[in-house]
Amino acid sequence: MQKADKNPIVMPRHVAFIMDGNGRWANKRGMPREYGHRFGVKAFRAVLEHCSTLDIEAVTFYAFSTENWKRPQREVNAILDLMDHYLTECEKKHEEYRFRLIFLGDKSAFDDKRRTRMEALERDTAHHQRILNIALNYGGRDEIVNACNRLLANGRAHVTAEDFAAALYTASSPELDLIIRTGGDLRISNFLLWQAAYAELYFTDVLWPDFGPAEVDAALAEFSTRKRRFGGV
Ligand code: IPE
Ligand code: IPE
Ligand code: MG
Repeated sequence: MQKADKNPIVMPRHVAFIMDGNGRWANKRGMPREYGHRFGVKAFRAVLEHCSTLDIEAVTFYAFSTENWKRPQREVNAILDLMDHYLTECEKKHEEYRFRLIFLGDKSAFDDKRRTRMEALERDTAHHQRILNIALNYGGRDEIVNACNRLLANGRAHVTAEDFAAALYTASSPELDLIIRTGGDLRISNFLLWQAAYAELYFTDVLWPDFGPAEVDAALAEFSTRKRRFGGV
């Protein structure tokens, strides 16, 4: 009989990324913040591709928060342009990419054309197992309020925690295991507030455009050493 491995690698089922530091990365190079977002998309691709080779069921990327509309119009437009390019890419290649795309957030802020494209992609990729959540116009508080309103609209007077979780944008995803934030700030910034209840938190000073497969592996190695007690002993 094989001896049991004393330190088996524990893989998270669901990992979420707070992709922070694009602006500072660009400023360090004397470039406008938009330049950082372009390179941020490159990092996103590399990280996503790496994650798809690993045994992770769901990955979530925080791309634009409900508060990010406060930024200069030029920067917001640049981010929306990058989003449109990515939608086009997914429309062409989703069968090759093989993930179920879900947009977390309030889509009503986007114009009809964008919203229709997002919904079509969600429908057209729904048969894939592996989940890719992209949080766009996402806020944890907004998600909770939205879930309350959905439950009320369904005539519910009493709900369980399970009912509530099923009304969140992440209803299709497994429990969140790990949140990785780049860029050096030690905060959650309105991300997955309900879902983070027992998630492990990993912070790194690496700015998002410099984050890649090696940094993902370092975070996963650290996750594997964490003792998760979930309130037990
Ligand atoms: C994260 O990078 C990307 C978005 C919020 C869209 P930032 O743009 O916040 O970059 P920093 O934090 O200002 O460096
Ligand atoms: C969090 O980053 C949002 C995203 C990564 C999309 P922010 O840069 O908006 O967060 P704060 O302002 O530093 O808290
Ligand atoms: Mg930031």
